[in-house]
Amino acid sequence: MLRNKKILLGVTGGIAAYKIPQLIRDFKKSGADVKVVMTEAAAEFVTPLTISTLSQNEVVVGGFPKFSGTVLKAETWHINLALWADVMLIAPATANTIAKLVHGYADNAVTTLALAMRGPIIISPSMDVDMLNHRLTQSNISFLEQLGYKILQPEKGELASGLTGAGRLPDLRKILFAVEELLQSGKKDLTGRKILVTAGPTYEPIDPVRFIGNRSSGKMGFAIATAAAQRGANVILITGKTNLVTPKNVQRINIVTAEEMFNAVTKHAGNSKVIIMAAAVADYTPAKVSKQKIKKSDNTKEHLNIQLKPTIDILKKIGEKKGNKILVGFAVETENEIRNAKIKVQQKNLDFIVLNNPLKEDAGFDVDTNIATIVTKSNKIVKLKKMSKFQLANQILDRIAGSFNSFKK
Ligand code: CTP
Repeated sequence: MLRNKKILLGVTGGIAAYKIPQLIRDFKKSGADVKVVMTEAAAEFVTPLTISTLSQNEVVVGGFPKFSGTVLKAETWHINLALWADVMLIAPATANTIAKLVHGYADNAVTTLALAMRGPIIISPSMDVDMLNHRLTQSNISFLEQLGYKILQPEKGELASGLTGAGRLPDLRKILFAVEELLQSGKKDLTGRKILVTAGPTYEPIDPVRFIGNRSSGKMGFAIATAAAQRGANVILITGKTNLVTPKNVQRINIVTAEEMFNAVTKHAGNSKVIIMAAAVADYTPAKVSKQKIKKSDNTKEHLNIQLKPTIDILKKIGEKKGNKILVGFAVETENEIRNAKIKVQQKNLDFIVLNNPLKEDAGFDVDTNIATIVTKSNKIVKLKKMSKFQLANQILDRIAGSFNSFKK
């Protein structure tokens, strides 16, 4: 499967680096060409001589490419390598390198190549259990996943420190399969499909300084947009306020209020074959927005009453003219979840709805995982296990891609 594939391997300074020579042999046996860049710390664990002997290629160590003692003539060695590679694998990826990747550092050959790569990048974090479980490392890993890097989850077991827990480099066969899978799949099953995704909260102004909002972080919608673009779709992402980075190859439209979201969705819905409403749209908005800041002294009574009026249910409106579009909604429910989700699927004329309960741990707002149930228009109920929002995004897109295929048949 890997015959003639060009693998760029980035090795960083973790103890699991001692396994990399064997991985290189396995890649070579599968017919791949392997070039290696490594950090100076990695070279403390495994020698460049071993690596270059097994890869049958020269190795770049640290920041500057010194092959056989001479500095390479081409200044763009990093670009040449990045253009050469079909895929880059960083294994083991230390907490330090992962943190650098999050911030776009280019201070050694591994981080530089990760920035210069056009093709996909797989990261295999490997470190001690406590470093891995640290909230910073976890948040860095999920940030990279959101950006579209493929993350190979470390395995649990005995660690070099003597501790037991997650952090081990996965079995080498698993790494090989993951590279194979990514190269094969580079799943482009949504190529040319126009997909509209909404994300994040809406903010409804009360006066020039205050608003009514909700706790949506936008992570789910951004994960869908990232995954859809990776699979070849033309993605428009209409989003409320978030701090998230625009995914690669995605057209982003920023909105603030439910009304702005309605207008933006209406404008782009006509051209979209698929609409996925992951945004948490406000159901009510202040009936009157005060032009001036509301002062405490303006209120003679004990309570300040703000009159609210309903917003337009965007998804319902789109559902009324569904045609042959695929419509997907999200439902947040804290009780009678399935029953309420079934009602929403029918009322909004959806193909399916993704239901979650924010009261469950590891689900809902601002976390990187979700525990969702899919309810379809034919009342099929699919309970999904806990997974990252990115994995859930791909599950949702699998269903959509599947229905394209069944239409073809
Ligand atoms: N939605 C929408 N426009 C609104 C409100 C919601 O398009 N004004 C969409 C959401 O993006 C989501 C789906 O409808 O995909 C369900 O949202 P949810 O808040 O769970 O349900 P509501 O229809 O608002 O009903 P309720 O708040 O009573 O549960």
